[in-house]
Amino acid sequence: MNYEDKLICPSLGIKDGRLTFAGLDVTSVAREFGTPLYLYDEGRIRENCRAYTKALKEAFSGGAEAAYASKAASFKQMYRVVTGENMSIDVVSVGEILTAKAAGVDLSRAYFHSNNKTDADIRAAMDCGVGTFVIDSLDELSAVDSEAASRGIRQKALLRLTPGIDPHTFKAVATGKVDSKFGFAITTGQAKEALEKALSYRGIDLCGFHCHVGSQLFDSDVYIRSSEIMIDFIAQAKAENGFVTRVLDLGGGYGVRYLPSHPKLDVAANIKQLADFVKSKCAEKGVALPKIVLEPGRSIVADAAITVYTVGSVKKIPGYINYVSVDGGMSDNVRYAMYSSPYTVLPADVSDKETMICTLAGRCCESGDVIQPNVELPADIKRGDLVAVQTTGAYNYSMASNYNRIPRPPVVMIKDGEAYVAVRRETYEDLMQYDN
Ligand SMILES: Cc1ncc(COP(=O)(O)O)c(C=O)c1O
Repeated sequence: MNYEDKLICPSLGIKDGRLTFAGLDVTSVAREFGTPLYLYDEGRIRENCRAYTKALKEAFSGGAEAAYASKAASFKQMYRVVTGENMSIDVVSVGEILTAKAAGVDLSRAYFHSNNKTDADIRAAMDCGVGTFVIDSLDELSAVDSEAASRGIRQKALLRLTPGIDPHTFKAVATGKVDSKFGFAITTGQAKEALEKALSYRGIDLCGFHCHVGSQLFDSDVYIRSSEIMIDFIAQAKAENGFVTRVLDLGGGYGVRYLPSHPKLDVAANIKQLADFVKSKCAEKGVALPKIVLEPGRSIVADAAITVYTVGSVKKIPGYINYVSVDGGMSDNVRYAMYSSPYTVLPADVSDKETMICTLAGRCCESGDVIQPNVELPADIKRGDLVAVQTTGAYNYSMASNYNRIPRPPVVMIKDGEAYVAVRRETYEDLMQYDN
């Protein structure tokens, strides 16, 4: 079996029949830090950030910014790395805000999302000086206005709109996604109502609009369709309400490779295509080009990490299926169980050997605890061997749980050939710390 064709994460390599990551031998790193282990290449995260900041600067002549959608992977070191690359951040909870604050992030560059910010969330975010609230409902608009007014400030805000795009069919439809729990629908008139309310509130400094339409997008089609609808709305807001939009945030969504068959996304070419469209559409509608914000999450961190596991039981059920169970599972990667997400798995010993097809199963007490079915691994794989699941940098650590009372793995990053702990492994004592 030749594993070269299955290397997806750019930081992976093969040396003397063994898997390497960011220049280090995966087996040695795993022996040092234990498994399961989230292993990130800091250099790759930085490269991904730069692809966005450079492309946005060139395409929009400085009038644009990228905000890392930190729900993809939120911990202090991640905030330090991405903001060190001049990214702003998108946060969705007070937990993310306080983590970013503890990492020393300038929160005036944060965009605060969530479809249900509590009064306590609103107060905490204002206490921390969060720059922009992305407002999702009329209730929230009024609550933010009251809190800001009571502090004698005007809170910068965007209204989250639902442009009515169905990203799965790639068709702009009148009703598609209008039923989303997020945002104000344009077609129902609720977006216009929210705009008028926002303009009447003294505590709100309305800067513009936000939308987020899709995920795992491999071209700019959905972005272009949604920006077209958003710019039509911007023109209408100018004509009917005299409102000049300063910021248009088009959300996240560019895709990453989980499988060898997935395309490599050219971020620069896609952003250029989007910029060409946005500029010409604004010109056609006679509106000034607002500052464009993108919120990439997955495409910043996903391909910068692998998860390394130790194989435990190998169970072959003749005529049916082979199970290779590892020392992690849905507690550290719930994405197959939740969305049937594909992954590409490699053994740490990538020497040329006979293989078998198996299901890579987790250790949780749940039949659905599968990391990936139909995986090709060495036929003689055995207890104690290591496997690596690729492209696990996004929505793995951040969705991890203590299901079955399993401690969460550590996050180890590699920088310039040195591995360091960014988040330590949870202990059993950690698990019990809240119990009376
Ligand atoms: C509002 C918003 N912005 C950005 C993102 C990041 O998307 P992605 O990780 O696909 O880039 C999400 C993801 O759900 C989102 O909801």
